[in-house]
Amino acid sequence: MQCAGAVIKSAHPRLSCHPRPAHGAFVGKNAKGDGDPKLFRMVDHIPDTNERTAHWESVYELNRVDGVSWYQQEPVVSLELVDIRGVEKDARVVDVGGGASVLVDFLLSRDFTNLTVLDISNSALRVSRERVGPDAHVTWIAHNLLTWEPTHPYDLWHDRAVFHFLPPNEIKIYQDLVRRSVAPGGSVIMAAFAPDGPEWCSGLPVTRYNANQLGEVLGDEFTVVEQRREVHTTPSGDLQPFTWIAASRNLP
Ligand SMILES: C[S@@+](CC[C@H](N)C(=O)[O-])C[C@H]1O[C@@H](n2cnc3c(N)ncnc32)[C@H](O)[C@@H]1O
Repeated sequence: MQCAGAVIKSAHPRLSCHPRPAHGAFVGKNAKGDGDPKLFRMVDHIPDTNERTAHWESVYELNRVDGVSWYQQEPVVSLELVDIRGVEKDARVVDVGGGASVLVDFLLSRDFTNLTVLDISNSALRVSRERVGPDAHVTWIAHNLLTWEPTHPYDLWHDRAVFHFLPPNEIKIYQDLVRRSVAPGGSVIMAAFAPDGPEWCSGLPVTRYNANQLGEVLGDEFTVVEQRREVHTTPSGDLQPFTWIAASRNLP
């Protein structure tokens, strides 16, 4: 079973979930796209920014961006929720942990003018930067989300498959960051693995969420206005259930 770059050995290759492997065991291999297997060590948590950066850099250096498990040709649910929230073309949008996602391409083609993509992996951002071209009005930020200080509020915060990597002791950092970053009346779109989704991704453990739990993460200052279940098909054909929410930041 493929999850991120890692191909998890499974007796049921079409199933989307797999049990947690023994800590520290080598259980995965990455396919570079040319069949060359790359071994990854499964770890419980990476607390250090440098190690975290190195982990994600290696994922993007060793894998084709259209071969990682989270790859989408078209970010259908994101765009649907952007439309439902009525996000204006000049809204300040940030895609946190945006990686090499094509969301930025689709928003540019819809004439959005104020886009920021943040990711811990410069390699991922380079792929997107080169794809959209130097003239695109996009701010690229290579930074650990958890130590990032936004310089202004955003009208839309988009997070697909990043928050779910955070262990319990980092959730408050994320909560405080979202509260500091999203303007009153602004929107949050979040997607995390659903309760029946994978337990590991890219060699890292993930926490699985239903829509209520994602709403609780945002807290009382936000109102969840939409929720979705999406079963994402990975490039290798595995199925990964996701929970999506769209929320509005309450006006004071
Ligand atoms: C599963 S991928 C999802 C990428 C993208 N959101 C998408 O939907 O295609 C997770 C992304 O989060 C990034 N990431 C992981 N931890 C991060 C952190 N602490 N700060 C910023 N980015 C992070 C990784 O580099 C990777 O690009």
